[in-house]
This record gives sequence, structure tokens and C-alpha cells, in this order.
Amino acid sequence: MAKSRLFVTLVRSLSNTASNGPKPFEDIPSLPGRGLPFLGHLLHLSKQPAGVKRMWENVDGLRKKYLKADELLLRLNLPPFNPLNGRVVILFDPDDAKEVYAHEGKFPLRGPPFDAMLMMRDKRPDIYSENRGLLLEDGEKWYNIRTKVQQDLLRPKSAHFYLDSIQSVAQELVDIIRAERTLESHEISDSVYCFKRYAFEAISLIALDTRLGCLKAEIDPKTKETFEAFVKFSHSSVGLLFSVPTWRFLPPRWNKHYRQGEDAQTILLDFNKHKVLEAIERFKAKETDKADHEKPVLEKLIKKLGHDSTLPIVTAIEMLVAGVDTTSNTLGMFLYHLAINPDKQDKLRQEFMSLGTNLTVKDLDKMKYFRACLQEHFRLIPVGPSTIRMVRDDCVIKGYQIPKDTVCLWFNSLFGRDASIFENPEQFLPERWLEKKKTFSPFAVRPFGHGPRMCIGKRFAELELQVATHKILTNFAVKWKNPGPLTYGFALINQPDQKMHFQFEDLRK
Ligand code: HEM
Repeated sequence: MAKSRLFVTLVRSLSNTASNGPKPFEDIPSLPGRGLPFLGHLLHLSKQPAGVKRMWENVDGLRKKYLKADELLLRLNLPPFNPLNGRVVILFDPDDAKEVYAHEGKFPLRGPPFDAMLMMRDKRPDIYSENRGLLLEDGEKWYNIRTKVQQDLLRPKSAHFYLDSIQSVAQELVDIIRAERTLESHEISDSVYCFKRYAFEAISLIALDTRLGCLKAEIDPKTKETFEAFVKFSHSSVGLLFSVPTWRFLPPRWNKHYRQGEDAQTILLDFNKHKVLEAIERFKAKETDKADHEKPVLEKLIKKLGHDSTLPIVTAIEMLVAGVDTTSNTLGMFLYHLAINPDKQDKLRQEFMSLGTNLTVKDLDKMKYFRACLQEHFRLIPVGPSTIRMVRDDCVIKGYQIPKDTVCLWFNSLFGRDASIFENPEQFLPERWLEKKKTFSPFAVRPFGHGPRMCIGKRFAELELQVATHKILTNFAVKWKNPGPLTYGFALINQPDQKMHFQFEDLRK
């Protein structure tokens, strides 16, 4: 199957060389007409039953209806995705993503801004007057904060610093699973809720340099209030994204989702600010001349940015907002793939068992099968169903001229299950990632993105997933207990549509 894509690429490149220069942008296959005023072709993408939640299925339908087998670009008019000029091109060949990344420029643009969230942040100048954070800023302001925090967040040693403490958080996760599972059948009906507590605890440990105790049987009331506010904040963000944006033209607080989001944000911001200010005092009191790699991330950020800067607070909040739902849902859906493929679960457990109970940095490098399993999970269920980038200068893709300021969009959820890219795409086969000579493009599965705007929490996320999976599988056999297969859809990220019900059976020692 993968060979057929190679053939199509070959035929297309031969035909391109035969022609005189690139073909005009307007010749890229498209839908009839320019669609509705202001919305363009949006309703084609968002129509039911797939809807916005599974937009990629609509896109696949458009591909089948409007493109021939060897056509791998679709041109659309989509002002909501590209307010500048509406020009959007959907890519169906992962190798073309490489070309787009090469033209994303110094300040990559990921898509239209989340205006409601910006509006909320603007109401807190005590925190956001200097910068509104990595997720929401663009251009110079994004570059300014990214370059200041990138090294301390992305370097592998920064994550390794936390290996022992994340292992103790993961042990608490195992303890809470034992304590909260049903007495007789050892089941937890809302496992992702437990995983959220784990991810919140782990990322707070890094972002706020504090153990909050989210996985304790008795949680401190202030911590509980903040965790619950975080959960509400996530819900209301999804609500804001999917409902009529009345907050744009009416007083924003009349909108239920906006009001709930803003109230939750207040609790979250005040808590974070308080914790970072506490940390500043703590670090001042015990200033040491330790080497940088022996210091916590927050201490390094405060030292670099200065005691008066609000950027450490902004960054800490960003780590929580971007790092909890992503990691916890991934852990849940990854365990689902391992639970419904018990032979793979056993094989992974064997790898873990060969490493012992307390992991070292060297052990992390030895987890080859784990990495293959996780990558295979991301192929089937990526956290981000799609990737958006605007090209900042003219380029040529598949022999067509792509003018500057065109938005290019591709669906990770389609690449991963495309039978012309992956053999047996519906099967969970981690072994495909261990083969020396791979037949698929390295751009077909890029769970953390690529280029200067890629996920800045990648190292922490990988560590949290690695350690939690290791602890869970060396303690339990995991079985899927929902009545049917997992269903999921886009809600800011890909998330399960239902509670995830697992059985955690103790391993026989
Ligand atoms: C399984 C876990 C995670 C996945 C799969 C994931 C994936 C992603 C992806 C795909 C992007 C967009 C990249 C792009 O546009 O090229 C992103 C951005 C981002 N992620 Fe993650 N992420 C995860 C966990 C985390 C964690 C734990 C943190 C906390 C430090 C984090 C912080 C961020 C931030 C701040 C951005 C915005 C970066 C920027 O725009 O400069 N993520 N993530």
C-alpha cells in the first residue's frame, strides 16, 4: 500500500519537471464556488454527523468527492482559518508538511487567535501586561518569551532532574488506583480523572516547584479548589470554542462559558502567582552556587528573568494549561491501546520488568519498545487532530505556486490511518517503528509538532508518560471495561467521548 504513494509521488514529480515552472495557485483542485460570505467553505468541514469534533472525516469525504487518486492538495476559501485572505490549502501528503515548515518563518503562525482567552488574560494586567504567554502570543512577543524559556524547558537534562520526584508522584498514582478501585472487581470507572490528578501534580512540581498533594486521600482545600477550577477552566474553554461567540458583541460575562472560564481563571492565576512568589522568597533564602543542571526549572527561570518579571508566572500557568489535559488523556488512551492488545502490553511489561523498579536516566534510554508503543498510539490518536501553519513566503508544493500568507492545513488524524502511508493502518503494531528501513514519511506522525513552535513541554510529557506507564504496568494488568470500543473527538485536543473504565488487576508476584 505504502508503495502506491511512492508511485504517485514519482508520477507527479515527473509531470512537474516536464512542465514549465509551477502551475498557478488557482489551478489547485477546489470545491465549486467560494462558499458563504465570511465563512467560505467552513460548513463543508463542520457539517454533521462528523461535525467539528471529527472534522477530518468530512475532509476525507471531500477528498474522495473532489480529488482524483493522484491529487494530494485541496484548495478552500476559509476566512475563519485565514482572516487575511481566506486562502487555505489542505495537504494529503505528509512530505509536503516539510516544505511548509521550511517556509513558516521566524515567527510561525499556528492559526487564528483564541480571542475569548486573550480577552480574559487582558483583564489581569498584574500578570499579563508584559506578555500573554506562549500559547496565545504571536510574532515578536511570542519570540521574545519563547527564546527566554526554551532552553530551560526543552533540554533533556531539565526533565531528567525530575526523574526521582516524578517516580514518587507515579507511585502515589498507583496507590490511589489501589485505594479507589472497586473492592471486588478492581475497576475505576473514570480513570482519566485520576490521570489528571497525576498530570496536575507532576507539572506543578516542575512549574511551581511545589508538591501539591493532588493524589493524597485528603487534599488540601486550597489545592482542591485550584484543581477543580482547572477542570472547569478546561470545560469552559471547549464551550467557548463550540458555542455562538456572544462575548464578542454583548457584555462577555453574559456568556455562561466566558463567565465560568473567567471565574476559574481567577482562582488559577491567584494560586499560581502566590506559589511563584513563595518560590522566589525560598530561592532567595537559600541561594547556592549549584550548576544550572542541578537547579529546578523555576529557579533557573527566575534567575534569568529577574525577580520582578511576571514571565515565570506566565510560563507556569502555560505549563498547567497546556500540560495537564494533553498528558492525562494521552495516558488514558495509550492504556486503552495496551489494554485491547494484551500481547503488546505483555511485551512492554517485559521490557519494563527488565529495568527494575527504580528507573535511572540510563533506563529511560533503554525503553525502545515503550517509545515504539507510544508513537504507534499517537499514529492512531494524535493529541492534535490537525496542524496549521501559514507560509510566510512564496513556495511550491506538488508543482503548484503557493503564495505567501496562505494557510496550510493537514490532518494528523488522517495521515495516521491512511492506507497509502501505513500498512494495516487500523492495527496497533508498535513493531513498525522498530524496523530499520521505514516506508513512511517522518512527517506522517509528529505528535509534538515540529520547528521553532513545537511543543515546549515535550521532554516533561514524555517523562511523565514513561514513568507512569512503567509504574502502572509493573503493578497491574490493565483491562478495558467499557461496553464498546473507545470513541473520541476534538475538544481543543482529541479527548474520549466517554469516561474510561479500566480494570487494574494486581500482578501475581
Ligand atoms: C502528551 C503530551 C503532549 C502533547 C502530545 C503535546 C503536543 C503539543 C503540540 C502538537 C503542540 C503544537 C506544536 C506545533 O504547533 O508545532 C504543543 C504546543 C505547546 N505545548 Fe505541548 N503537548 C503535550 C504536553 C505538554 C506539556 C506537559 C507542556 C508543559 C510544559 C506543554 C506545553 C506546550 C506549550 C506551552 C505549547 C505552545 C508552544 C508555543 O507555541 O511556542 N505541552 N504541544
